[in-house]
Amino acid sequence: MAEETESNVAIENLAAVIGECRKCPLWENTHHAVPGEGNPRAGLMLIGEAPGKQEDLTGRPFVGRAGKLLEGLLSGIGLTRDDVFIANIVKHRPPGNRDPRDEEILACTPYLEEQIRIIRPKVIVMLGRHSSRYILSFLPVEFDRITEIRGTVYPALLFGHPVRLIPTLHPAAALYNPGYRESLEEDFRIIGRELAAAGNSTRQD
Ligand code: URA
Repeated sequence: MAEETESNVAIENLAAVIGECRKCPLWENTHHAVPGEGNPRAGLMLIGEAPGKQEDLTGRPFVGRAGKLLEGLLSGIGLTRDDVFIANIVKHRPPGNRDPRDEEILACTPYLEEQIRIIRPKVIVMLGRHSSRYILSFLPVEFDRITEIRGTVYPALLFGHPVRLIPTLHPAAALYNPGYRESLEEDFRIIGRELAAAGNSTRQD
């Protein structure tokens, strides 16, 4: 079986498991799980926080207003949603869009880790403090505010594969704050450069 097919099948099988997940109570008030979507051999993986209302209704990540902003940022570095893989720290919507709780993150992140193992991205971008805190917990990196570390490139070995980790702001934070939007645009220029330096876009092996 070709590698592409294997990764596709693995991602789809995992999405089916996530759809049935009852490891924490978050699923109880939701319409759909939002496992994540995109290219299963993407060079760039983006990790958000948790599904919001539109994502819960559709089962797709970043389809609301923050998603439109994200698509604009991707297009600024020559990419579309189909070129990348977009996932979240937790796969069901927390009630009222509250922050995910530690126990929910603990229950859900094995799915994210499995997605990273399957996709083996060259660059992982953490959108906002929740995903930054989680992914950077694998490194000796600590921070109080995401603004302290945004745009920094952290080379790492994650689940046995070399990857460059880049925290940035959550696009939702930039919806009403033009300053944050400029910071995101600046960080995405760094992301584009890192991806190009890593040999760009999709895995060929
Ligand atoms: N915000 C997120 O963090 N994830 C989504 O999928 C949508 C909005």
